[in-house]
Amino acid sequence: MMGLKFVDEIINRKSALSKEGTGRMFFRVMSIETFANQHILDLVAYKPGKPIDETARELGLEPDQIVKLASNENPLGPSPKAQEAIARIASGVHIYPDGASFNLRNALASNLGVDFDQTVVGAGSSEIIELLCHALLNPESEVIAAKHAFSMYPIMAKVFGAKYVEIDNKGDWTHDLQAMLDAVTPQTRIIFITNPTNPLGTVVSQEEIDEFMSKVPDHVVVAFDEAYHEFATNPAETIKYVRDGRNVIVLRTFSKVYGLAGLRVGYGLAPTQITGMLHKVRTPFNLNLVAQEAAFAALKDEEHLSKTVENNRIGLEFFAKAFDRMGLEYIPSQGNFILVKVGDGVAVFKKMLQQGIITRDQSSYGLPEWVRISIGTPEENARCLKVLESVMKS
Ligand SMILES: Cc1ncc(COP(=O)(O)O)c(C=O)c1O
Repeated sequence: MMGLKFVDEIINRKSALSKEGTGRMFFRVMSIETFANQHILDLVAYKPGKPIDETARELGLEPDQIVKLASNENPLGPSPKAQEAIARIASGVHIYPDGASFNLRNALASNLGVDFDQTVVGAGSSEIIELLCHALLNPESEVIAAKHAFSMYPIMAKVFGAKYVEIDNKGDWTHDLQAMLDAVTPQTRIIFITNPTNPLGTVVSQEEIDEFMSKVPDHVVVAFDEAYHEFATNPAETIKYVRDGRNVIVLRTFSKVYGLAGLRVGYGLAPTQITGMLHKVRTPFNLNLVAQEAAFAALKDEEHLSKTVENNRIGLEFFAKAFDRMGLEYIPSQGNFILVKVGDGVAVFKKMLQQGIITRDQSSYGLPEWVRISIGTPEENARCLKVLESVMKS
């Protein structure tokens, strides 16, 4: 057992053998970390936006006094059609769901013009990202993504021991696709293109993507993460590359525009060679029954979708005008959030929190001077801005 790490641990328990009844026994216990995958030990776990209930408890307020604009959720709530479906299915949850998620995948396939077999669903697009990494990554492989990208990419790359290569954005905060191509090596397996990107809110154009796709080699899977696709004004079309059988996967989610973040539903569209691998590595019933039914119903609720997009457009304009007036730098956004430069992001986040407004400081994204605000209802936006103004004056 040479080279194994030991920790001394004192376990305070009554010993049946200890006639004296001191109750103290001394053990030398081997640290289980010795046997763990060493590359995960210094991983920093994903840090979500601060929950409403936790904030309310800490401030001694009621949850409905808190405004959460921290996780890019839908401020209008879930689609009413999804809510009806959830109520309808409640009495049936003692039965396992359809392991193939047939109805939902079939609806996605026909709405988006791909084959049923070119779809995969999961517990949020986060799960699809994980499945992709399961299928493609090992300690020899490399993953390329833009700087300040969604933090699940580096976390997942690290989980599988892969090298994570971050590429600086261009001066306008958009992905530098040529620099990403230049970083490709024979070990590169995944390039993430986040469009619109979070937390920056910028997009890459159709021309840039088409140029990139004409050069990217076949040993790389391009993952177009389109979690905010529906909010973009003129989003690039990437599903054509799925139809063409290229090595791509388009990732989308029901967490944002469809308002189902709490149910965890996301999907991927890819050629069958890729979806086939993802179906092999997923767990048998990875999308629960309630999530399947609600997402199926939400897909048909175009009214809720267009109300959400319009509310977002108004909110983005509201904040942009206000930041112009206040002389604050911000990044024009095509998502349902906006990044604003406030100086000390953590301090501003904390002061706003004290007044019941939850935003997201960006220190973990390498942007310590910035705060990200998710777009809320007009009332929530107004309250958030009032608090931000008072904090910036103080
Ligand atoms: C860029 C991006 N991709 C993927 C996701 C994952 O979303 P979900 O797992 O809720 O589908 C998020 C969530 O915030 C995101 O910002």
